[in-house]
Amino acid sequence: MARKMARLLPLLLVAGCPALSLAASSAADPCVKIADQEFVPPADALACYKTFPFNETLRQNVLTNVARVFNFFTFEDFYLNSPPPFQESTSDIRATLAKINSTKYETDYDFNKALYDFTTQLNDGHTRYFPACYNAFQNILPAPVVSLEENGVQNLFVAPDSVEFLSQLGAPFTNYFDSIKFDWKRLAGAKILQIDGMDPYDYVDLVARTVSGNYLDHGVRVNSVFTSYRISGSTFSQRLGDLAGPIDVTRTSLKFELIAVNSTKVETVDVPYLASFIGVSFTDRASFWRNNCAANELTNGADVRTPASLSRRVRKQPRAEIIDGLQSKAVDLPQPFLPIAPPINGSDDVIKTYILPGGKTGVMFVGSFSPSDYSQFQVDTVAAVNAFKAAGVSQLLIDLTNNGGGYVCLGQFLHQYLVGSQIGYPGFQSTQRANALAQKIVAAHVALGQNDIENFYSPHNWAFQNDTIMPVTFNYNDPSAPFMVNGRSDPTSQRFHDTCTESFTEAIPTTPPFDLNNVAIVSNGNCASTCAMFSTLMNERHNTKIAVFGGKPGETMEFKGMAGNQVLEWAELDTEIKSVGLKDDPLAPPDL
Ligand SMILES: *[C@@H]1O[C@H](CO)[C@@H](O)[C@H](O)[C@H]1NC(C)=O
Ligand SMILES: *[C@@H]1O[C@H](CO)[C@@H](O)[C@H](O)[C@H]1NC(C)=O
Ligand SMILES: *[C@@H]1O[C@H](CO)[C@@H](O)[C@H](O)[C@H]1NC(C)=O
Ligand SMILES: *[C@@H]1O[C@H](CO)[C@@H](O)[C@H](O)[C@H]1NC(C)=O
Ligand SMILES: *[C@@H]1O[C@H](CO)[C@@H](O)[C@H](O)[C@H]1NC(C)=O
Repeated sequence: MARKMARLLPLLLVAGCPALSLAASSAADPCVKIADQEFVPPADALACYKTFPFNETLRQNVLTNVARVFNFFTFEDFYLNSPPPFQESTSDIRATLAKINSTKYETDYDFNKALYDFTTQLNDGHTRYFPACYNAFQNILPAPVVSLEENGVQNLFVAPDSVEFLSQLGAPFTNYFDSIKFDWKRLAGAKILQIDGMDPYDYVDLVARTVSGNYLDHGVRVNSVFTSYRISGSTFSQRLGDLAGPIDVTRTSLKFELIAVNSTKVETVDVPYLASFIGVSFTDRASFWRNNCAANELTNGADVRTPASLSRRVRKQPRAEIIDGLQSKAVDLPQPFLPIAPPINGSDDVIKTYILPGGKTGVMFVGSFSPSDYSQFQVDTVAAVNAFKAAGVSQLLIDLTNNGGGYVCLGQFLHQYLVGSQIGYPGFQSTQRANALAQKIVAAHVALGQNDIENFYSPHNWAFQNDTIMPVTFNYNDPSAPFMVNGRSDPTSQRFHDTCTESFTEAIPTTPPFDLNNVAIVSNGNCASTCAMFSTLMNERHNTKIAVFGGKPGETMEFKGMAGNQVLEWAELDTEIKSVGLKDDPLAPPDL
């Protein structure tokens, strides 16, 4: 997708399931064996997962919810024929849902895995199904891979610094490999000749196709397979990559043909995975279900007009981001691999700022648009630019590696701060989908008039193209605008602007702080949603040069992995529906 035009609002769904009645016979309970352990062999985790029998009632509940959320909220029609170079994502979503509805599954896990894999392989970080129950472990291989060049030739290697960063998983991790006498440390830096009997880059392609998800572009997903640096929280961290850190626990080991460092001997090594527990603690099968699987008071949305749900009425900034694993454990990037230049002002949250030797180039590593503090991101941007100016920096390099997105308006803020207020509105024109349920929701907001609650579908949340905020009684879906995708009618709202500038707390300079010809962007292409919007705005409106690194030798890759859109998770979407009194509408997805 070249640019963001439609503000489609796809699904981000976290499922929970009603309680099962369970017989408490702990002798035969595989969950007891792994309770209270930080790391367990993946086969043991899988045995616990597979103790929950398939339940038709749960399947019908989940599939009805998913089918209606797709109707309402996703890019479904685009998938019928995804154009080159994105043809890998072509999918007949209805046919697949029908197949999942008619397949016979042995366990609840098998059903959920089918739905998880299917939605993951849509390669849209905004259309995900994360069953918390079966995302409770991350499978870790002590041999994260990376593509490196040696004498002009690229090959796959076990990351040379893997001992330093994997050791931070602590004694429970390293002791396990000691106990089975597996020396993983000697694999660091090894050159990989084959994985699972395949050319190593073909195996990487397979993982990019089946495991990575999130990004439409295959080349970008190849980089998700490799281990890479990122910001997690507000610190540097090492992402293990989708080969060495998948959520799926079905693989117990992976066979490599490799040559270790300082050796010439080709050897075959079967490297064991170890599953890291990232769920909510439990003691047995019943408590595993209760704490990790069963729906709770936050699984679904709430009618924020009722006194009991007032607390869920917090007015929030719109977000556009991906979830990189439902839960995840961050591994710090150890000291020797941190930037050598000292961080300068504005580096305490998700932005890390440096001046390169020579004093000419300032680097802003914008690791995320999801800071811990919304205003601080703006303060940090100003502090960084002021410090660069004070130091006489004349060119700016923005690193967006592994930026999973975040607040829509912080992307617009950074854009506007760098180019000056002279450009006027700092975003793209937007629309919402205007399907039948969306039309009813907007009409209900209009009918509430001055009594409206200001959720995301409220007209008051959007502006006309002259940047005047819409009156609460303005129905931006009436008339809707016709839109055809792959032969299907998928009407949209009238075009509108975001209302971001209202949340800018720092003064915007009139003109760019740096000559825009001296501003460039670099990343590994894993740049999602708000990050995709920001980099596309810079590229399309200001011709900003963008360099991407990594990928598979000889294959192209995009500078971003997806289109940017505001997204809502299931509970938020449900809140939008319930809070205008439409929960009983036949189009509304049922509670999980
Ligand atoms: C299936 O799940 C439903 C909803 O939680 C429950 O009422 C029912 O007892 C379950 N069926 C079986 C056979 O466990
Ligand atoms: C699944 O198939 C059954 C039998 O054809 C049907 O009654 C049910 O409505 C389908 N469920 C969904 C969610 O489409
Ligand atoms: C490989 O050999 C070099 C040069 O002798 C040495 O410095 C390095 O420590 C060796 N690395 C390993 C992993 O044995
Ligand atoms: C960095 O921040 C401090 C504290 O706010 C301020 O006094 C100093 O002038 C700043 N330095 C630069 C170079 O902007
Ligand atoms: C902005 O546009 C809207 C819709 O076209 C119009 O009603 C409104 O008067 C305009 N406001 C200004 C300040 O021009």
